[in-house]
Amino acid sequence: MYIITAALIYANGPVHLGHIKSTYLPADIYTRYLRLKGEEALYVCATDDHGTPILLEAEKRGISPKELVRYYHEKDEKEFKALGIEFDIFHWTSSEENKLTTYEFYEALRPYIYPKKVMQYYCKELGRFLPDRYIKGKCKYCGAEDQYADQCEVCGRTLKPGDLIDPYCTLTKTRPELRESEHLFFKLSYFAPFLKEYVSEVAPEELRSYLDKWLEDLQDWDIVRDLEWGIPVPGHPGKVFYVWFDAPIGYIGSLRALRKHDWEEVWNKSKIYHFIGKDIIYHHYLFWPAMLKGANFNLPYRIPVRGYLTLEGKKFSKSRGWYLSLEDALNHLHPDYIRYYLTAITPSGLTDSDFSLDDLKAKINNELIANYGNLINRAFKLAQGKELPKLEMNEVEKALLEEYKKHMDATEFKEGLEIAMELVHYYNKLLSDNEPWKKPWEEAKEVVARAVYGAALVTAMLYPIIPFTTKKIAEHFKFPLALEYPKEISLEKPFVPFKKIEDETDKLKELLLSRSKGQESA
Ligand code: MSP
Ligand code: ZN
Repeated sequence: MYIITAALIYANGPVHLGHIKSTYLPADIYTRYLRLKGEEALYVCATDDHGTPILLEAEKRGISPKELVRYYHEKDEKEFKALGIEFDIFHWTSSEENKLTTYEFYEALRPYIYPKKVMQYYCKELGRFLPDRYIKGKCKYCGAEDQYADQCEVCGRTLKPGDLIDPYCTLTKTRPELRESEHLFFKLSYFAPFLKEYVSEVAPEELRSYLDKWLEDLQDWDIVRDLEWGIPVPGHPGKVFYVWFDAPIGYIGSLRALRKHDWEEVWNKSKIYHFIGKDIIYHHYLFWPAMLKGANFNLPYRIPVRGYLTLEGKKFSKSRGWYLSLEDALNHLHPDYIRYYLTAITPSGLTDSDFSLDDLKAKINNELIANYGNLINRAFKLAQGKELPKLEMNEVEKALLEEYKKHMDATEFKEGLEIAMELVHYYNKLLSDNEPWKKPWEEAKEVVARAVYGAALVTAMLYPIIPFTTKKIAEHFKFPLALEYPKEISLEKPFVPFKKIEDETDKLKELLLSRSKGQESA
């Protein structure tokens, strides 16, 4: 059994294409691929409901945090579904299952948790403690202005409460005071030897030096916050667990909601894959494995990381209006086009990719439709109403299929897609080199049969990436989606699976431009 998870999405804003690219689509592709191979896999996800930004966003809108996270939970679920992201469960971290699981973790981790008094910034005007990211001031080391309370971006030093000269609350612009509060710390340092070994087994080469730097000096981890929104810490009124404590537990809490009776066994006996973006490596490779180890749970088998998405060469920015939400894209584009394009531009690993609407149009019209769509049209038209001879795959096909599997197994989907398209090219060339349409059927039939069987095979190979269209093709020609020549096939009537992109990408461009202009003048 496999458990596939995608990082839990914060429930305080719309899903955008960057989230999809790094996290939700790759995890979905892998789940579909595993099932295509006949493996059992569960795809688990949830909204991440806690943390200060969610509380503040709710307040800004004049609703309760509960209402806010419910709103986004429903919206996200609908949009994921429209893109063909098919979770077995899409739960939420504020669920009863997750509270219970968080308390169980807290109990199990007690031997590694100790109390310690800390100084915290307190905004008197808001009447609450504020996390570091809401406090700015002058760095006491280098004098740089406008630095966040946790780190100076100019001199790079880690800052502690009290290290800012003239601090101010970014929400009220008033001066916060320092107040003492008793927090709970998790002895991450105790797990350093274990983590070193774990990381050396699980992390890909390109993450090693980044992780090693953290491992050299692991700090114990403050797991509570002075906040009213979150999972209350037993015996500590006014405090909740830090959102990054209960969020990864949400993977297990959500599995628990799906498999009420055997969740523990399923978790502990499965190969667990966590798909994440590159900004949360630290939490998934260090914090979370230490928590699992301390509480005696099965560890993640692989944690595939992907880089960020930029939009037409610039960083996504909600405040500058430079973003496309999943909803925007779905309003104009077939979900398979979004999936195909994002896969085609996303290598596994840390490299960022750029989303360009012109490039998307070109890749869909000139690659996907011109090559794969063309193969489907031609091969099945040539075979219409005919009886095909039985054939075996030849060496070229076998070798490419093996290479495809190797990449897909290793969660290298861009590379897997490229191999599938190479095979498409092979069949198209077979047809144009042999020109079976100019020949009597007896001479033409072997080439046509190979092209038809091959078209069915590549349809299965493309299924994890473009499930809507490939399923339609397979249903129309009545062949099972499997990584082999089809066992049966219907050649009654042809079928045109794709429609070229016309002005849809231009409309998205207009939307993007008007949105960013609106923001500039605002
Ligand atoms: N809630 C945390 C994850 C908790 S997992 C126990 C979180 N949420 S998020 O909504 O900010 O991000 C969801 C996923 O999208 C994460 O994998 C994150 O790395 C990824 N990305 C966020 N912004 C992104 C881009 N601009 N580009 C690519 N991936 C991005 O992090
Ligand atoms: Zn500084």
